[in-house]
Amino acid sequence: MKVALMGHGVVGSGVAEILLEKKESLAEKAGSLLELVKILDLRDFPQLSYQELFTKDFSEIESDDSISIVVEAMGGLHPAYEYVKSCLEKGKSVVTSNKELVAEKGAELLAVAKEKNVNFFFEASVGGGIPVIRPMHLCLAANELKTVYGILNGTTNFILTKMIREQMSFEKALSIAQELGYAEKDPTADVEGIDACRKICILASIACKKHIYPKDVYAEGITKITAEDVAYASAAGYVVKLIGQAKLGKEQHQVMVTPALVPVDHQLSGVDDVFNAVLIEGDCTGDVMFYGKGAGKMPTASAVVADVVHAAKMPGTSLSLTWEDSTASVALPLTSCENSFYYRLQGSVKPETVEQLWGEVVWLTRKDQPANEVAFMTACMKEGEAVKAEKQLQDAVILSKIRYLD
Ligand code: HSE
Repeated sequence: MKVALMGHGVVGSGVAEILLEKKESLAEKAGSLLELVKILDLRDFPQLSYQELFTKDFSEIESDDSISIVVEAMGGLHPAYEYVKSCLEKGKSVVTSNKELVAEKGAELLAVAKEKNVNFFFEASVGGGIPVIRPMHLCLAANELKTVYGILNGTTNFILTKMIREQMSFEKALSIAQELGYAEKDPTADVEGIDACRKICILASIACKKHIYPKDVYAEGITKITAEDVAYASAAGYVVKLIGQAKLGKEQHQVMVTPALVPVDHQLSGVDDVFNAVLIEGDCTGDVMFYGKGAGKMPTASAVVADVVHAAKMPGTSLSLTWEDSTASVALPLTSCENSFYYRLQGSVKPETVEQLWGEVVWLTRKDQPANEVAFMTACMKEGEAVKAEKQLQDAVILSKIRYLD
């Protein structure tokens, strides 16, 4: 079976290495030889032993009817979307690691794959090397899924771990994550929660079977987390993590990405470095947790190659999951979402005033806490109510507001 690869970056080069070096074991698993015949990339790689496979011309892949599986590892929306759509329309199965593509165009591309009786697989788009998409839609098929949440970005988890454990600066930790190949081309997508937002949108779309678009989902990154917040959290028995959450409702679903204080005895609190974890609650299974390396060349390439093997096993059969496109937003508006909050305030605010505005709270303390600083944790409330309380606050400024898991 002939395979083409589009994009020879961090993930793509890992895919090429696995396909070329593990030919025999993959052939056994796929039931046929997986022959990598073309690699599309605009750059030259004169040092590579397989440089004869490279082309700069997409039409060499698109118009070659003998190629039945195409791997897209270019990243970005364009031209990945046009190339993938065209390959599917030509009757080729496509495997991608591109979360932006799936989060923005998943419903449309899945429909094209169904119509052409081919596959559009994207296991590597969420959780890097962790098998989560196929287990979620196949192995948990008996369940109504109630919640899906977790740590979905390796770069930010790596940065937070370094900042908390080693008191490393944000910039230094980010540059190490970039060197290790974890970060996106533009790391803004990682640190501002955009990458995690795309991933929770994909998981939420699988869970509710309707496309949830990133533009409808509130996403906040880790750039505003301070050492003071980490100190309050730690003194109260919490760690700070970037959490993607999807709480499934009847018509609308609470989907968001925010930093959150996670209790130290919670399953997610010990998920450190580049590791990701996804917790899924099904009505039959209860909690199921998926854990592993969420970014990096070989873990992500592993998930891509597994999809290639899966596509190769059943030529002429469409095994892809599907979800419907949605015109009206199925994501609950932020003001109606419910969360619990940690606040840090500066000023001469009285405890009674805080409790009048936010209701009963738990007060936090930290070492070297300034006299004019308070921190507290609220009960669970609507986001809109929390904002209303903030607007009525006088004589103090809000230095930090972070959600927490209870
Ligand atoms: N930049 C992403 C991360 C890569 O750090 O998780 C894997 O999707």
